[in-house]
Amino acid sequence: MIPFLWLILLTHIRWVHTADLANVQTSQVQNIFILAGQSNMSGRGGVINHGQNGMVNETWDGVIPPECKPNPNILRFSAGFQWVEAQEPLHQDIDLGKVCGVGPGMSFANSILKRDPSIGVIGMVPCAIGGTNISEWARGGVLYNHMIRRTEAALQGGGKLQALLWYQGESDTETLEDAKLYKFRLKRLFKNVLHDLQSPTLPVIQVSLASSIGPYKEQVRKAQLGINLPNVRTVDAKGLPVGMDYLHITTLAQVQLGQLLADAFLQTQTTQAVLLPIQPVTCNAPKSCSNFVFDLLLSPFR
Ligand SMILES: *[C@@H]1O[C@H](CO)[C@@H](O)[C@H](O)[C@H]1NC(C)=O
Ligand SMILES: *[C@@H]1O[C@H](CO)[C@@H](O)[C@H](O)[C@H]1NC(C)=O
Ligand SMILES: *[C@@H]1O[C@H](CO)[C@@H](O)[C@H](O)[C@H]1NC(C)=O
Repeated sequence: MIPFLWLILLTHIRWVHTADLANVQTSQVQNIFILAGQSNMSGRGGVINHGQNGMVNETWDGVIPPECKPNPNILRFSAGFQWVEAQEPLHQDIDLGKVCGVGPGMSFANSILKRDPSIGVIGMVPCAIGGTNISEWARGGVLYNHMIRRTEAALQGGGKLQALLWYQGESDTETLEDAKLYKFRLKRLFKNVLHDLQSPTLPVIQVSLASSIGPYKEQVRKAQLGINLPNVRTVDAKGLPVGMDYLHITTLAQVQLGQLLADAFLQTQTTQAVLLPIQPVTCNAPKSCSNFVFDLLLSPFR
């Protein structure tokens, strides 16, 4: 099943790769946000498992709270590189092979429009893929390239890149080794994204994990909270209700999270906020900068 899903993902991404970037239509989008990470960012709010005896048979309940309703001023960048009116589930043509539900994106965008109606049209670029670990998001990998290409394409229609919203980590709580390397990998990821998108002062709003299935949650959480990069803001998921599956935050939690993300973003836009450039990752021998070699060198276990 897993290899099959990867095949879908790869063929899909390959198709995106050959899409004609120059054909992205000029849009009225003024504010562009990247949404990336794993399932909680993709959205599983309202996804219910009807399966019995360990069987998985999931459906989305279709419940869309008022805070997540569509709005003509909120668009999303589709898998086919088109700006379309956004609606839940925001990641349904991106996070393929899963049952997607409510994520934080619509609540985030509605909340921003409510608090700052003059900000203009919001365009979201969904890129999150459920079940992914941070190593899979490393520069040069399929997920990373997909995110960068989609963002670059989205920007061709006009508009300003405003922030990267990031919610990930659960998949790195399973082994001590991954948990220990999490901070380094996360920091490197953020630096690379800002460098590759030529946006050294781009705000990054991340969500720290509150609980997890894996045993090394505390290490990952500490890594997230301890990340010392300018312009990285952290919203804490602590206290947000987790659903019956013990794995994903609920629809109502996603509504709250979207609002917290909006607060954090708007704080970076006040006149008092100072956005400093993030220094790119430096490496003397660019070829050996590959994540594989990096991890190998850093990992005491390999
Ligand atoms: C999955 O659950 C739905 C809702 O309970 C049910 O209608 C459907 O028959 C189930 N499908 C399978 C394959 O069990
Ligand atoms: C990350 O996920 C991939 C694919 O599932 C797996 O092959 C790899 O071992 C994982 N890496 C880490 C460091 O957990
Ligand atoms: C989703 O977020 C909740 C709250 O932090 C966390 O407990 C859970 O492990 C996360 N699940 C996944 C799959 O990332």
